[in-house]
Amino acid sequence: MSNSRSRVPSQSSNLGLALFPLRAFLGFTFIYAGLQKFFSADYWSATSSNGFLSQTQAASVNSPIGFILNHTLEHHAIFAFAIAAGELLSGLGILFGIWTRWAALGAFGLSTSFFLTVSWGTSPYYFGPDIVFMAALLPLIIAGDGNYLSLGSKIAEGVRRDKGVAPGAVISNAPLENEIKRRTLLKTGAVAGGAGIAGLAVGVIGYKSNSNKVIATATPSASASTTASASASAATSGTKIASVTDVPVGSAFKFMNPATGKPGYVMQPAAGTFVACSAVCTHQGCIVNFDKASDIFHCPCHGAEFDGTSGAVTRGPAHRDLEKFTVTVSGTDIFLA
Ligand code: FES
Repeated sequence: MSNSRSRVPSQSSNLGLALFPLRAFLGFTFIYAGLQKFFSADYWSATSSNGFLSQTQAASVNSPIGFILNHTLEHHAIFAFAIAAGELLSGLGILFGIWTRWAALGAFGLSTSFFLTVSWGTSPYYFGPDIVFMAALLPLIIAGDGNYLSLGSKIAEGVRRDKGVAPGAVISNAPLENEIKRRTLLKTGAVAGGAGIAGLAVGVIGYKSNSNKVIATATPSASASTTASASASAATSGTKIASVTDVPVGSAFKFMNPATGKPGYVMQPAAGTFVACSAVCTHQGCIVNFDKASDIFHCPCHGAEFDGTSGAVTRGPAHRDLEKFTVTVSGTDIFLA
């Protein structure tokens, strides 16, 4: 008696072909993002403003899952590693078609966590990349790879062939079907494990090569205060950027920073008190505008907002305050240190 019977060919290869450009892009992008983190000294640094710790601390202020993020900070290195590894492994699975649905689900989980943290508050919402990644991953979660250019499918086909089952045939023998499933699972697991170990090995090499640049124990607040005091002590001379009369109380005066060639603002939040900050948005570098009515700096690119008296970030997607400058007043002139 035959253990299998033929069936009508499915549409899965057409579906797989249609999904492949999406798969290729997402797989490559997640691999790239994971490796980029592993090879970045900034990402692992506890003091860099671009580091995982600083970014997480900043994101926790406005994030709806901020209370969860605060619990991760104590073990930030573990979470930083888990995110980089998760991106790398899910990218490998998606690109090579190994447990594609599960890999896409993992990538979806990561994108959701980014959406709820670093992208939260992006306005309008479609400027945030993570919500787009979430949407793009859904077809792969639902349909998988359609058996197109898929290592997982090749392994399954090989196992069936070894057992004398023709491609596409329906298996009517339950023990045989279970045996094929078991062997397929083991072989796919071995390939996935090998690919995962190879990928992580590259990642760990990247991490090690940057480990001598990683500052593991200092805190961002300590760093910030150090920088601030260093700036203050250096404020002995400077360039005239405005006259006192240019900056009425409660207003902000735009000037050009000669050191960077980029604009900044000097403000007088209270009579006789002058502060200054960069006009360069800390999200992606657009120039912010001062809105006197609401006393905020508003970024026209993605909607970030900063306090008009200090430059402190009040609304994402930016997570860092505008860069502060030290100013001194001499007579009726204001100088940038
Ligand atoms: S909010 Fe994106 S550059 Fe300012």
